Amino acid sequence: MLVEKLKDYANSSVYPFHMPGHKRMGGNGLPYEIDITEIDGFDNLHDPRGCLAELQENAAELYSARHAFTLVNGSTVGILAATRAMTKDGDRVLIARNSHMAVYHAAELCRLNTEYILPDTVDGLGIFASISPAAVERMLNAHPDTSLVVVTSPTYEGVASDVKSIADICHQHGARLLVDEAHGAHFPFSDRFPQSAIGCGADTAVTSLHKTLPAMTQTALLLTNDDILAKELQRQLTVFETSSPSYVLLASIDRCLTFLINHKEAFDDYIKRLDNFHQAARSLKHISVAHDELLHAENVFDFDSGKLCIFGNGCMSGKKLMDILRADYHLELEMALGDYALAMTSVCDTDEGFVRLINALTQIDSRCTQSDHPNTITASPLPQKRYTISEAINADGEIRDIFMAEGKTSRDYIRAYPPGIPIIVPGEVIDREVLSQLTALMASGNEIITDHSAFPLISIIG
Ligand SMILES: Cc1ncc(COP(=O)(O)O)c(C=O)c1O
Repeated sequence: MLVEKLKDYANSSVYPFHMPGHKRMGGNGLPYEIDITEIDGFDNLHDPRGCLAELQENAAELYSARHAFTLVNGSTVGILAATRAMTKDGDRVLIARNSHMAVYHAAELCRLNTEYILPDTVDGLGIFASISPAAVERMLNAHPDTSLVVVTSPTYEGVASDVKSIADICHQHGARLLVDEAHGAHFPFSDRFPQSAIGCGADTAVTSLHKTLPAMTQTALLLTNDDILAKELQRQLTVFETSSPSYVLLASIDRCLTFLINHKEAFDDYIKRLDNFHQAARSLKHISVAHDELLHAENVFDFDSGKLCIFGNGCMSGKKLMDILRADYHLELEMALGDYALAMTSVCDTDEGFVRLINALTQIDSRCTQSDHPNTITASPLPQKRYTISEAINADGEIRDIFMAEGKTSRDYIRAYPPGIPIIVPGEVIDREVLSQLTALMASGNEIITDHSAFPLISIIG
């Protein structure tokens, strides 16, 4: 049973260097006693006038936005609602290729015509760099009918973009900007973190409270400063979000906001822990925790030092490092990809947690020998697009082994887990680059997922 499994896990010595941000601290049992519905005396999330209106006002104030919508279906629902609120069927949108699947699903549902910006990777690390404002400008000059631009800032790995410049460029070209800030809910609470998107001029931003703050899984916020857009966002949230929002989750948002108001100093302690950790990590000889090189990389605008990207540097793959940390040290990381494993930290992490991690890394490091080749995965150029996503999804398909389908058009999303960013989207051509990227990902132990079949079978347009 899930409940027993969760209780057993909670009682084990496994330390969570992964989401959610509350790190399983506090709360003795399941909170059934506060799991109510929209009964008299409470409020309606889709037309808030009482306690939920007050909750949203508090969130707006804390995040310095005119409007905040509290979400109980994660940033995912915020992305769907915001995209639909800011586009019409068939509109052209410019999407950063390293977007989460929710952005692609929004484009599919709204029948949008997608153009992509493929961010550079950071030299030597192979992780996505910031979205360059110049690249956004180039694409908007090439496609002046673009109505919406969607960028992810920060990325899963913590790389933030120059949202202010990007927002200015979008507005000069008559486009609006949605920032997927799912991993940046903690940004407003220390000036050591990158600046928040909404303060930099984004028209809308979504942020997952549950990823980096003490809040339950699925809790998130949708933010805007635009009074007219706010009305349409509310309407679209009614389309996409459950009509039975969980008060347990809403209470968790309330608890999180109260924590943020009353415990600002907790972020100073968190920053000190991070500084100490990064300082100690500089002594590692073989494996390394990317930090200074990211902060100073030419194509990285800013970086969230709360994301610990631990590189094997040829000693071992990210997956092997993650496996050793789990098996030998009971430290569970968020994900591994190619040459690195990612530990997510939050304001709720303890001194003990950081010490356990640095001690484990120091021991692993002392046993390292430079054996394997670095396993950096480089992003391939974008495949050619023949159809929009919704055209492809609605076309007749047939199932084929992808390695026998070179030159065919995919009806499937093909993505590697983690982190789930698509290698090909419906309507794109399966070319040699795509096939060799898939082969490299499989060789490094990543799971490849398709929607219609078990990989390597995929659906192609017949
Ligand atoms: C960059 C990014 N955007 C959006 C999402 C979706 O957020 P949520 O899980 O809160 O729906 C995720 C989830 O992992 C993500 O990593």
